Amino acid sequence: MTRAFRRMARAGWLTVAALGALGLASAGCERKAAEQSPIKIGFVVKQPEEPWFQSEWEFAAQAADKYGFKLIRIGAVDGEKVLAGIDNLAAQGAQGFIICTPDVRLGPAIVARAQSHQMKLLSVDDQFVGPDGQFMTAVHHLGISARAIGQDVGRALYAELRKRGWKTDEVGLCAVTFEELDTAKERTDGAIEALIDAGFPRDRVYKAAQKTSDVPGAFDAADVILTQHPEVQRWLVCGMNDNAVLGAVRVMEGRGVPAEAVIGIGINGTDCLNEFRKPAPTGFFASVLLTPRRHGFETAEMMYKWLKEGVEPAKLTFTTGILITRETYEPVLKEQGLLK
Ligand code: GLA
Repeated sequence: MTRAFRRMARAGWLTVAALGALGLASAGCERKAAEQSPIKIGFVVKQPEEPWFQSEWEFAAQAADKYGFKLIRIGAVDGEKVLAGIDNLAAQGAQGFIICTPDVRLGPAIVARAQSHQMKLLSVDDQFVGPDGQFMTAVHHLGISARAIGQDVGRALYAELRKRGWKTDEVGLCAVTFEELDTAKERTDGAIEALIDAGFPRDRVYKAAQKTSDVPGAFDAADVILTQHPEVQRWLVCGMNDNAVLGAVRVMEGRGVPAEAVIGIGINGTDCLNEFRKPAPTGFFASVLLTPRRHGFETAEMMYKWLKEGVEPAKLTFTTGILITRETYEPVLKEQGLLK
């Protein structure tokens, strides 16, 4: 109700009955406006500088173009920014959002904040964890088949080691880990498991814990391992994503390990393109390209249909990946709509 009407009512110019009628009429108008106003959907990501998340945003924008909703992108690097971001989305009239949270333990707070604004919510990439340490399975989620993808990395590392004719007793595995995040732990555990199953010696697995899940965090972690193992002549590298492997590869370059003595295999496939484009091969040998289109377009589409048509998304969706190298990445990325 407008301020003018309230003033009139206070001044006694309107009868109770007239006020009631006006109230009904204005509620009707609001409903009509809401029905007509376009759907607005937020897409909140934890590391907006990472090409992976930029790709998700781009694909979500394609869904927005296709269905005619408004996409609001928010980068939120910590809990405070996440909660302020949700309030901001609500203030802009968003009815739902998709989120990759900077900390999965924020799950309960995010759910509560979404509920307070009556917004629908879908998590992507990193699944919320409740106070009991278990996944919050009530929250709809789309993520990767982390262990299987990690195992693909492990098998590919071993295949390349064999191809190069390396003896395992002169090789070390530098596994850059980020174990507080389940999807990250599953990936590196899967890679280590597949390597050991293939015959790689368990005692030549060296884990390097990242403090932050970015290139500098991986660099610092791998640096410790290289200092501890000057005797290792050839390295395999795995990690939770491309940036984790890139950090370790940079350390090895800095210490004079030749590129041909390093086999690094990342995950994402979106954050290693500059690396593949370098004129000479580096130690970053390959990556498992995930499906950012599904993570961006499909989640946005799910949210749209949920809001517009009441179609509830699947509770849990897992996506797969495909191995790419310097030689194969261009046609594969083109096929996936990631390169023109
Ligand atoms: C995590 C990582 C990202 C990307 C996604 C894929 O969020 O931080 O780099 O690998 O998972 O789901």
